[in-house]
Amino acid sequence: MLTQSKIQQAEEALQKAKVKMNHRYRLGYHIMAPANWINDPNGLIQYKGEYHVFYQHHPFDENWGPMHWGHVKSKDLVHWEHLPIALTPTEDYEKDGCFSGSAVDDNGVLTLIYTGNIFVDREKDIVDQSQCIATSVDGIHFTKEAANPVISKHPKEGSGHFRDPKVWRHGEYWYMVLGTRKGNTGKVILYKSKDLRQWEYLGVLAESDETLGYMWECPDFFELDGKYVLIFSPQGMEAKGDLYNNLFQTGYLIGEYDYETNKFIHGSFTELDHGHDFYAVQTLLDDKGRRIAIGWMDMWESNMPTKEDGWCGALTLPRELTLGENIEILMNPVEELTFLRELKNSVCTDKSFSGTHLVETKEDLIELKLEFDLTKTAAESVGLKIRGINQEETTLLYQIENQKLTLDCTKSGKGEDGVRRTKVESNQVLSLRVFIDRSSIEVFVNDGQATLTSRIYPKEERLGIELFTENGDAHVIDFTYWKLKDIWR
Ligand code: FRU
Repeated sequence: MLTQSKIQQAEEALQKAKVKMNHRYRLGYHIMAPANWINDPNGLIQYKGEYHVFYQHHPFDENWGPMHWGHVKSKDLVHWEHLPIALTPTEDYEKDGCFSGSAVDDNGVLTLIYTGNIFVDREKDIVDQSQCIATSVDGIHFTKEAANPVISKHPKEGSGHFRDPKVWRHGEYWYMVLGTRKGNTGKVILYKSKDLRQWEYLGVLAESDETLGYMWECPDFFELDGKYVLIFSPQGMEAKGDLYNNLFQTGYLIGEYDYETNKFIHGSFTELDHGHDFYAVQTLLDDKGRRIAIGWMDMWESNMPTKEDGWCGALTLPRELTLGENIEILMNPVEELTFLRELKNSVCTDKSFSGTHLVETKEDLIELKLEFDLTKTAAESVGLKIRGINQEETTLLYQIENQKLTLDCTKSGKGEDGVRRTKVESNQVLSLRVFIDRSSIEVFVNDGQATLTSRIYPKEERLGIELFTENGDAHVIDFTYWKLKDIWR
């Protein structure tokens, strides 16, 4: 009863906040809360044939606060529907929030495994975190386990920073990875269980050397095309040239894993996305055998102008992960995203141009596909600008000689920290697939070889998309764009 009335209060708060919300930057085809704050995606699962996504949510304010779990579902990963809030912090063991976690289907029972958070001393960053369970048979209403927390204390290799359980099934057992730290060493630790309630600690799966940060958040561990991948979000890595330029990172280790010995032999850390806003990624395996990832499309402590509008935070598009030839992760939009396409504009095929070419469009929800034939391109660089009035623009620029792709959002709301860059080795074709929403841009390069994800906050009307070359001509194989559907209207 207590839980139901708390959920009711939160839902009422959201209804009130919705009425006051300013819609200028509301996204058209991304997961957001009805109003107020969200951060990490949680509990990604396909349950009874539908995709469910939960998210860290503060329904009472546009700023982070005591965490609840918000909830959406979809039949196709494109059209999402809000469901009632799934978890509110009601118990002592979670008095300062129901933190991130995951979901499994336990013989038809939708089971959420999450972190109960207690702040012991916020100023000194001392927390007491434990792992908890809540179950549902209708996929909407959840009951917390009487025996919570199911793991009440961290092992000696960790500390009170002990959070973000990701659970999966392998053979006879459930397995769980958790993020933790000991001193200034971030780690991922592993547990196993027969019944999701009694957990046996198996040890450290991977940990930071001097360079990989003091805390590892939001781990996810899975098999991908014959290799094992550990994705996590380390805090405390230093920037290195074009790499690790955000406050915190998300990336992965890849290698071989042995369930018998709990040995994970892996290569070095690789950043997963090169834009400003990509964090706390989680994945699910669906019934088509696809490994699908969704991230939080923001970054802690960055400028978030939508707070003034009564909401804050969004999730990225769902992306399919596959393994590339060089044993690296390729991320591509799931194929269902073509359902968003409404009106197709074929701008040009097989055409050379130099200088600038403006396509006038006021649309703010766009997918575009742009392919350059670099073997027939003499220019030093090629790119595109999404234009707005008063010189507002978001620029994507590819420098052919040094093979660098730059996303510049300096003039679309990011200011001084507006530039992100990454190396993209393209010798023949440069292919860009770009999703533009009212306050975001997601760039997929060469079939997922690189991605750049950033929030942008253009103040005024859009004026079009400008193709440009610098010092020479370029050959366009195909330039097509689609007006996309607004799923929330
Ligand atoms: C990651 C994170 C998680 C934590 C949650 C709290 O962004 O810090 O480690 O569970 O957010 O909202």
